[in-house]
Amino acid sequence: MPLLEVRDLTVSFHTSDGLVQAVRGVSFDVEKGHTLGVVGESGSGKTVCTQTLLGLTPGADVSGQALFDGRDLLRMSPAELQRVRGARIAAIFQDPLSSLHPLYTVGWQIVEMIRAHRHIARSAARARAIELLDMVGIPQAASRVDDYPHQFSGGMRQRAMIAMALALDPDLIIADEPTTALDATVQAQVIELMTKLQTEFDTALIIITHDMGVIAETADEVMVMYAGKAVEKADRRTLFYFPHHPYTKGLLESIPGSTAAGERLRPIPGQPPSLISIPTGCAFHPRCQYVMDRCISEVPPLFDIAGGHTSACFLPTQILGLGEDVDRERASAAAAGRAENGAAARLAARATEEIETAGVHLPDAGVLAGAGMSDRSRGPRTSQNSPDDAGTQP
Ligand SMILES: Nc1ncnc2c1ncn2[C@@H]1O[C@H](COP(=O)(O)OP(=O)(O)OP(=O)(O)O)[C@@H](O)[C@H]1O
Ligand code: SF4
Ligand SMILES: [Mg+2]
Repeated sequence: MPLLEVRDLTVSFHTSDGLVQAVRGVSFDVEKGHTLGVVGESGSGKTVCTQTLLGLTPGADVSGQALFDGRDLLRMSPAELQRVRGARIAAIFQDPLSSLHPLYTVGWQIVEMIRAHRHIARSAARARAIELLDMVGIPQAASRVDDYPHQFSGGMRQRAMIAMALALDPDLIIADEPTTALDATVQAQVIELMTKLQTEFDTALIIITHDMGVIAETADEVMVMYAGKAVEKADRRTLFYFPHHPYTKGLLESIPGSTAAGERLRPIPGQPPSLISIPTGCAFHPRCQYVMDRCISEVPPLFDIAGGHTSACFLPTQILGLGEDVDRERASAAAAGRAENGAAARLAARATEEIETAGVHLPDAGVLAGAGMSDRSRGPRTSQNSPDDAGTQP
């Protein structure tokens, strides 16, 4: 049984501008000890989705189910949820300064967190806090434990948050853009630390990011979100080498320094929609170069592809992967699905033109190289294509 089973989670907010449909029927599982990466552009509902699980979206209309170890988080009383939060599910947010109280020392905050959930002496909790700070790489932890948050650098504060998250040995950590505010070197160190400790502690992790590079470094399974929905779900290798959804393909082809596209970066045209006025049919259709007539009026369900790989797109499920040959197949399947000079044809032409004119030519960077896909992540695949073929395609 998965540690966390989220089914048909729907979250909306009534605002003076209208109803914000932040999460629209999202389902996913997190297995014990596994990492689920949640990726998507800004405003796709990633944060709302996970904060709702922690009871942190007061005032929202929420429906669905979120079974954590068999019990529904969405139906727990605030007191019950508070017991789960911290002790069994911990959270790490983008900006540690907003989570750490500026007027108390880092050590005091870790000690209080431990003592709020465990009956142990202050001295034992302090010893544990020092041990944890040392484990996350804070130098001279025994003295730095008495520092205030502002005396720590950004990277050290994020390490302190990781220490705090691990303090009660939780079953699940939710890390929401944990490294976005850090510079690239510190970001890589923090990611490495998180994955190392996650393995040591055998903790499940949900990592939320808009950065495919972070996903490549951390995730076992990946959920791509667009306009409040999960549009593609797969294990990491499948998602990077055999994406089906044009949005996933767009995210991969716009990773600077990696170029899933070969020698060109192809930005996704246009902007994500407002969640108050979501496009009809497939919400991605105004930006999709493969849009077909039916995409404008029909909402694509998540189609099964193979082995847990699902994609909410009407393109044939056998058209997977990256590169010019696959793109030609996508283009011809899409052309067969639209009337000449119809609305879909016009949108497709506009999106294609935008991609062509905005595309940046690069020296050959190697497929996925910068996305951190190490060799260890290329395990055997059961489907028709071999990963090595994908690794050398243009
Ligand atoms: N309390 C709230 N009241 C009204 N709207 C909200 C509230 N919280 C979030 N939203 C809206 O819900 C949508 C989804 O927001 P969310 O923060 O989940 O996006 P995100 O994918 O995490 O984006 P980012 O990458 O920028 O963090 C946005 O349109 C946001 O404005
Ligand atoms: S082809 Fe249609 S269903 Fe698929 S992503 Fe494009 S617009 Fe959406
Ligand atoms: Mg967010």
